[in-house]
Amino acid sequence: MTVLCFFLVFMNVDLFLKTGHCAETRDQILSITPKTQEQVDLLKNVSTQYETSLWQPVSPQYIREEAQVHLFVPANSSETVKDLLQRHAITHEVLLANANELVEMQMRNDSTDPRSSSTFYERYHSLEDIYDWINRTTHDNPNTVKAILVGSSYEKRPLYALKLSLNDRPNKKAMWIDCGIHAREWISPAFCLWFVHYSLSFYKQNADITHILDNMDVYVLPVMNPDGYKYTWTTNRMWRKNRSLSKRSACIGVDLNRNFDANWCTEGASHDPCTEIYCGAFPESEPESQAVADFLRSHKDSVQLYLTIHSYSQMLLFPYSCRLDEAENHSDLLEMTQEAAQQIKRYYRNIYKHGAGAKTIYLAPGGSDDWAYILGIKYAFTFELQDLGRYGFLLPPSRISRACNEALLAVKVIAQRVLEKTQAQTHPPHTD
Ligand code: ARG
Ligand code: ZN
Repeated sequence: MTVLCFFLVFMNVDLFLKTGHCAETRDQILSITPKTQEQVDLLKNVSTQYETSLWQPVSPQYIREEAQVHLFVPANSSETVKDLLQRHAITHEVLLANANELVEMQMRNDSTDPRSSSTFYERYHSLEDIYDWINRTTHDNPNTVKAILVGSSYEKRPLYALKLSLNDRPNKKAMWIDCGIHAREWISPAFCLWFVHYSLSFYKQNADITHILDNMDVYVLPVMNPDGYKYTWTTNRMWRKNRSLSKRSACIGVDLNRNFDANWCTEGASHDPCTEIYCGAFPESEPESQAVADFLRSHKDSVQLYLTIHSYSQMLLFPYSCRLDEAENHSDLLEMTQEAAQQIKRYYRNIYKHGAGAKTIYLAPGGSDDWAYILGIKYAFTFELQDLGRYGFLLPPSRISRACNEALLAVKVIAQRVLEKTQAQTHPPHTD
């Protein structure tokens, strides 16, 4: 049977797989839309009891009737899960029939692969490669780029932020961008690298980035969760949280985007270390979130714009995510994200939703954007980059450039608007 099974899979005889007599040999992503409360409950069960990984929504508690669920099902639980769905008459669609192939594609180092012509920035990089890149970038740009050690991770890896300072005007304001809070969202660190490269290459070439960099320093933290990122390369591609051990549970990891002090651990986060949205033992319990919070606290007078990069779902979000009411400058924030989304649509024909986090996706307390906002950084945004679920966290390298360019466009629009607003405040127009 095993031999036959292998043979048929090898021959790509899909029909045979669908009969269920032969265990799937590939990891898959399923899209399932529950139609009844009973189906909702069953799906919640499947996603917690079986070895699967929920892609969408972020936690089983958000599974609802008529809302699409994206579920990563490893080959070894495929048969059981599909059986269970079938027995409850729940239909599913296979979003990705062969996730392994995509994972392999993402980890391939194309510089040794003659078939590919993609550049460094159009590939995903291991943590070691990213540390090398940080070194090289500071070394090659000694007058404009500095690496700042802002802290270290739970497993004692350094957290370096790059400071881009393209000219030495006095009293320059600044923006902060962090990437890779969530380990499996690989497009996020790729964006931070892309952004730094673009800034250094197109300063004095492109009017928008020149204007921004002339008036702001930029701090870029390419990988805020290095332990988790490393783990997605070595052990579990679907890992989200950091890797800290809990005193009271065998489950590992805190959701760093629930660990900040913004309505910490209220509805939308969990005290259970075994969930994907575990808020940690107390606010800033994790060295990674504490490092970022400490840095921003000590730079809050210069930092006017806070950006944090996630994936997937194509959204431009702003505070609040930790409460339902509107931020004091809600209409400014809405206008900025609306303009950014319009530009993306115009130039890239891609749709980004925009709005306050809590109303646009779900209540998610303890997020870094809300915390930065409450600290006094009045322009704070979370970007959710490509895609809408076709590849999800496994966005192929060939799509990196599109995803990063559209996000870059949004950063430019928003940074320009922030400059306009804040400069208008510091230099009121002359009235003779
Ligand atoms: N997908 C992100 C998360 O679940 C959304 C973050 C929105 N912002 C926030 N402060 N929660 O963490
Ligand atoms: Zn995320």
